[in-house]
Amino acid sequence: MAFVTRQFVRSVSSSSTASASAKKIIIKHVTVIGGGLMGAGIAQVAAATGHTVVLVDQTEDILAKSRKGIEESLRKVAKKKFAETPKVIKTPMTSQKTFESLIDFSKALGKHPVSCKDTPGFIVNRLLVPYCMEAIRLHERGDASKEDIDTAMKLGAGYPMGPFELLDYVGLDTVKFIMDGWHEMDAKNPLFQPSPSLNKLVAENKFGRKTGEGYYKYQ
Ligand SMILES: NC(=O)c1ccc[n+]([C@@H]2O[C@H](COP(=O)([O-])OP(=O)(O)OC[C@H]3O[C@@H](n4cnc5c(N)ncnc54)[C@H](O)[C@@H]3O)[C@@H](O)[C@H]2O)c1
Repeated sequence: MAFVTRQFVRSVSSSSTASASAKKIIIKHVTVIGGGLMGAGIAQVAAATGHTVVLVDQTEDILAKSRKGIEESLRKVAKKKFAETPKVIKTPMTSQKTFESLIDFSKALGKHPVSCKDTPGFIVNRLLVPYCMEAIRLHERGDASKEDIDTAMKLGAGYPMGPFELLDYVGLDTVKFIMDGWHEMDAKNPLFQPSPSLNKLVAENKFGRKTGEGYYKYQ
């Protein structure tokens, strides 16, 4: 795996032959732009399944952190993450060949791809983000502690993480970014209303696990 700063390596994203235009593309080389939570995970999975991977980010420091995270993760028993189901999106501009090639690529990564329309949040975020925001509102109203909400959802609904653990894992900056976008898109939707506690934590650079503090504190 190569770690590259600020370069976009256009030529390595896929391989095909001119005469095989009707055939599906077999993806062997993968370039991941952004080596954060998602990018580092995608790069690791792609490398572990025999693909050549280039990971690109803005600074050497960030790439060193990505490398360290991947190395630590490889040493541990693979933890089941919620990115097990890639969503392959077919827009009116996506050819059937590209769509099918990406389904095959997802399977080559050892994943179970699903498909959905090009709609905000696709499947998982469209359901999980409003659910997490409802948990925040429950807590902000003083109806239950975040610890009890997390315990209730883990034991009562069989979720592997409670909503506050999940928020801190995903990254509060990412969740706020998503919510702000949806609020702008549909300001009257009660599910898309901003949260004072989320906004405050993000303003204080408390993004969750990646910064050591979010709704919870981490060592
Ligand atoms: N965190 C999740 O659970 C989750 C789930 C689904 C989708 N997503 C989406 O995935 C994307 C990344 O999320 P994340 O959680 O990995 O964020 P992150 O903050 O952990 O990582 C983002 C990385 O991208 C890098 N970056 C930013 N601009 C760049 C540029 N111009 N060139 C190269 N690198 C650049 C940043 O330096 C950072 O390392 C977001 O669009 C997010 O909405 C995240």
